[in-house]
Amino acid sequence: MTEQTTWSQRFESALHPAIAYFNASIGFDIELIEYDITGSVAHAKMLAHTGIISPQEGEKLVAGLEQIRTEYREGKFNPGIDAEDVHFAVERRLTEITGDIGKKLHTARSRNDQVGTDTRLYLREQISQIRHQLREFQSVLLSLAQANVETLIPGYTHLQRAQPLSLAHHLLAYFEMLQRDWERLGEIYQRVNISPLGSGALAGTTFPIDRHYTASLLEFGGVYSNSLDGVSDRDFAIEFLCAASLIMVHLSRLSEEVILWASQEFGFVTLKDSCSTGSSIMPQKKNPDVPELVRGKTGRVFGHLQAMLVLMKGLPLAYNKDLQEDKEALFDSVKTVSACLEAMTILLREGMEFKQQRLAEAVAEDFSNATDVADYLATKGVPFREAYNLVGKVVKTSLQSDKLLKDLSLEEWKELHPAFEEDIYNAIAPRQVVAARNSYGGTGFEQVRLALQNARDRMIRE
Ligand code: ARG
Repeated sequence: MTEQTTWSQRFESALHPAIAYFNASIGFDIELIEYDITGSVAHAKMLAHTGIISPQEGEKLVAGLEQIRTEYREGKFNPGIDAEDVHFAVERRLTEITGDIGKKLHTARSRNDQVGTDTRLYLREQISQIRHQLREFQSVLLSLAQANVETLIPGYTHLQRAQPLSLAHHLLAYFEMLQRDWERLGEIYQRVNISPLGSGALAGTTFPIDRHYTASLLEFGGVYSNSLDGVSDRDFAIEFLCAASLIMVHLSRLSEEVILWASQEFGFVTLKDSCSTGSSIMPQKKNPDVPELVRGKTGRVFGHLQAMLVLMKGLPLAYNKDLQEDKEALFDSVKTVSACLEAMTILLREGMEFKQQRLAEAVAEDFSNATDVADYLATKGVPFREAYNLVGKVVKTSLQSDKLLKDLSLEEWKELHPAFEEDIYNAIAPRQVVAARNSYGGTGFEQVRLALQNARDRMIRE
């Protein structure tokens, strides 16, 4: 930077090398290069369109920019720290290619509106990609649910056996969470997709630019109507990090369940060799690394959200260099969410198997049909609270004699209450316990089939 300093003549000496390194963002914002080129192409076209530069100059700029894109894709353009950031790197190379014409590219533009444009172009593409991945994961959940409508699994509250469920119902709960994530990202996309280009450094520009022209070339849905807001708003990034955090919450909850299910204590699933690892010392181990890593990586995304909120809270208008710190938070969150979605999709699609036999035993070995006994009496006219107390007593005495409810004889039932008949056995059989919960949104098989159909329709429709 000694001879060819980027700055105006105001500067007499170059940056201290350590400060140059400290100041530089090229190490990470190179990720934005293609978006930077795309944004610059639109800007160059607009400069020509409005007569700020000649049509020939506009064409040369565009050709030069596209040449840089090719060079980058071919691995021939690798700017170093001396370029400071991706914006300077591209502009400098453009000047090497086109000569003095390249120096016209930055007319009526600042790096402040430029970087805001690049970040939005980047993020909107990533959002589309993540939404696509969410859809893939949802379709895996749907197929698994489809195959397991009649598979029963213990349902828990407080991690205590509560009532048995259709496994499909359990899986569809995650489908719904991911559906909200998909919708949320769609809404956020609208607010990411607004062009700050033409806001200048902070106050607009003296040139007769056409902001709507660049916005339409870049397929933005609108333009920022206030230049100060345009260059300093990062709400869109924070909103994305919120949505990313929620996706991670959902993936992490599912991960926690898979980890429990794969334990010897639960034994509900086996993990296939393709998705688990062993221990370097304990030969019997098979570890659920994928869900553990997903659960672990969740913290990073929460951290980035927190960092971004703190980054913004004290910033006076308009641009401040602090904003350079937004990028790594965004890039890492995008990569983390995307990698976790991919890994979990593979895990559920082919890396995990439900142990049908064990699940069938599990739902028959506890008192999770106790509510059904109370409901049985209540339908026969016994007030529910009275029935509830009575069943509590039965559970207590059964536990003492090491029996389950299904082991009580009809005489024992009748002794408890004369309303009990032979059909009590069917009423407390796990399959019936599940089938009977046929209220809208419940786990009854009929409802689950409707929910599946509804989920499938939403996947096709939207
Ligand atoms: N590298 C900078 C960033 O990421 C680009 C914008 C610099 N603007 C400035 N006024 N120094 O934010």
